[in-house]
Amino acid sequence: MSSTPSFAAQSPTSPLAPHQITRRAVGPNDVQIEIEFCGVCHTDIHQSRNDWGATNYPVVPGHEIVGKVSALGLEVGNLQIGQRVAVGCFVDSCHVCSSCKADMEQYCLQGFTASYNSPSKDPGGFTYGGYSKRIVVDKHFVLTVPDGLDPAGAAPLLCAGITTYSPLRHWGVKAGMTVGIIGLGGLGHMGVKLSHAMGAKTVMITTSKNKASDAMKLGADNVLISTDSDAMQAMANQFDFLLNTIPVPHDYNQYMGLLKVDGTMCIVGSVGPTAELDSGPLIFGRRSVAGSLVGGIKETQEMLDFCAKHHIVSDIELIKMEDINHAYERMLKSDVKYRFVIDMNSLS
Ligand SMILES: NC(=O)c1ccc[n+]([C@@H]2O[C@H](COP(=O)([O-])OP(=O)(O)OC[C@H]3O[C@@H](n4cnc5c(N)ncnc54)[C@H](OP(=O)(O)O)[C@@H]3O)[C@@H](O)[C@H]2O)c1
Ligand SMILES: [Zn+2]
Ligand SMILES: [Zn+2]
Repeated sequence: MSSTPSFAAQSPTSPLAPHQITRRAVGPNDVQIEIEFCGVCHTDIHQSRNDWGATNYPVVPGHEIVGKVSALGLEVGNLQIGQRVAVGCFVDSCHVCSSCKADMEQYCLQGFTASYNSPSKDPGGFTYGGYSKRIVVDKHFVLTVPDGLDPAGAAPLLCAGITTYSPLRHWGVKAGMTVGIIGLGGLGHMGVKLSHAMGAKTVMITTSKNKASDAMKLGADNVLISTDSDAMQAMANQFDFLLNTIPVPHDYNQYMGLLKVDGTMCIVGSVGPTAELDSGPLIFGRRSVAGSLVGGIKETQEMLDFCAKHHIVSDIELIKMEDINHAYERMLKSDVKYRFVIDMNSLS
């Protein structure tokens, strides 16, 4: 067991502050990682502030983790001390259910163990995430970071990257298709880069006019301002696929008319009830609304390799651990370009 510095929220209203946790001893199948960088996901804000009503305190957020192997269990054959590795949104699952057997641990029928705030046999009784110096993770849930990927820019791939890559792949995004990415934040900017790399005509759908030129630089072919009803009307029936990353409950109906016949809007942002869904656009156009959760371990490795091949990393603002509360405030104002990443060297 090792005493490990971290940053934690002690209640829904307390800012994140230094907190000491204990990591478990390295078991035969475990990998101990010295964390170099951890991305800041909007989910970390939801969880720190108990937006979803299920946070156990103290909570140590962080599930976009990149670091170097510092100890290996006896049964871990495929990794080396000092190798650069990564951990994403979950650290355990049942391994035997139909989802786990199909490499979709994120849909484990027994419930996966999230990288933080999940019940666990670890010291403290809950998992603690990447806002910490060190983590111990079962080898199955450890990814390798391909050479050539900047480690700080790669950290957000572990959530923002895979959460957008997985649905783009599942719905077969490719050249010849028109894809709309709704919301230009952490997820959205990865969605634009990945959809563009997959060859689709990619349109950034945003509430922020001032992000238009950035969207084009990130790979968008076009920008649609969602508050401009004339522009929205002009793009009716144009999209094969929409990826919706908006982090708050909102009216899905305003986007449904953008879809072609048989088009799908996939929700990856806000979890939970939303405005009443109008079945009209679904029936008159055989359109679908769907959802998607991160991606499995095999697909996450595939995504990292795809990003290395296409030279894709996240556009980041590197911050010190002590700046995390300010970063949360800026994210809540949609003021981040386009992912905060914590330099874990700043945590002593
Ligand atoms: N399904 C999953 O597996 C999964 C994984 C990770 C995260 N998430 C969730 O995905 C959501 C997005 O996360 P993120 O880290 O990308 O957040 P983020 O960086 O804060 O970006 C969200 C973007 O959504 C747009 N937006 C914000 N408020 C809006 C509003 N009221 N109406 C319309 N658009 C609004 C803004 O873009 P514009 O300025 O361009 O409009 C904003 O930049 C969060 O709820 C997070 O919990 C889900
Ligand atoms: Zn996340
Ligand atoms: Zn399972």
